[in-house]
Amino acid sequence: RKKVRVHHLRELKERGEAWPMLTAYDMYTAELFDEAGIPVLLVGDSAANNVFGYDTSLPVTVDELLPLVRGVTRAVKYALVVADLPFGSYQLSPEQALATAVRFMKEGRAHAVKLEGGRKFAPHVEALTSAGVPVMGHIGFTPQSEHNLGGYRVQGRGASGEELVADALALQEAGAFSVVMEMVPAEVAKQVTHSLSIPTIGIGAGPDCDAQVLVWQDMAGLRRGRTPRFVKRYADVAGVLSKAATAFAEDVRRGEFPGAEHSFH
Ligand code: KIV
Ligand code: NA
Repeated sequence: RKKVRVHHLRELKERGEAWPMLTAYDMYTAELFDEAGIPVLLVGDSAANNVFGYDTSLPVTVDELLPLVRGVTRAVKYALVVADLPFGSYQLSPEQALATAVRFMKEGRAHAVKLEGGRKFAPHVEALTSAGVPVMGHIGFTPQSEHNLGGYRVQGRGASGEELVADALALQEAGAFSVVMEMVPAEVAKQVTHSLSIPTIGIGAGPDCDAQVLVWQDMAGLRRGRTPRFVKRYADVAGVLSKAATAFAEDVRRGEFPGAEHSFH
């Protein structure tokens, strides 16, 4: 296997081969997903919800995300690691976007960054790609704008489907190497995918995107309770961990752990 580069992802699109992406926020998961052949790992600002316990992605900071990015990049051999730029760390100006991206590339050793927004963020994407930073776009439902979008809602229905195509084309034109589409009607996502030469990565965007992404705790069933419609659970990690912790607790209380084989004499 070779290190994944952005041009490999474009080649997969040309060959019509779909590829998977997962979030990762630490060393062990990054190592496992890398070995499982996941070509792109995203240190998402969804760490806000899935690591730090905030109720939205808005509060998480660059200083909180940077150590997670470092842990993931240290652990992978092949995967392309994308660092998500958190709310407030790039919207001010292309200069601010570049300053933040540089931190993720230098201190986090990320291979690329992701930011949310369409046409209005083309200058930001352009500033980054001109400086040598590969950029992944993110359109459709953009969680950092949830208060403006009126909560978790499908985007791009009706006439706004054309807006989404225009946004995606502007990001491609500005040099983005791929675009995430979140909670978009499958028909619109298909149209965007066919309009672009760079790969589209869907989450709640139907089967016709070039790639699919899920948050790993959703994919593996670590997060409990209601999950969005677009999530498919591939395991019950919550159940496995909960059983393990319960068994350990019982063993200790009954005096059955540690046994002779776990002790030094
Ligand atoms: O932060 C995140 O996990 C994301 C993905 C869902 C695309 O942005
Ligand atoms: Na994100």
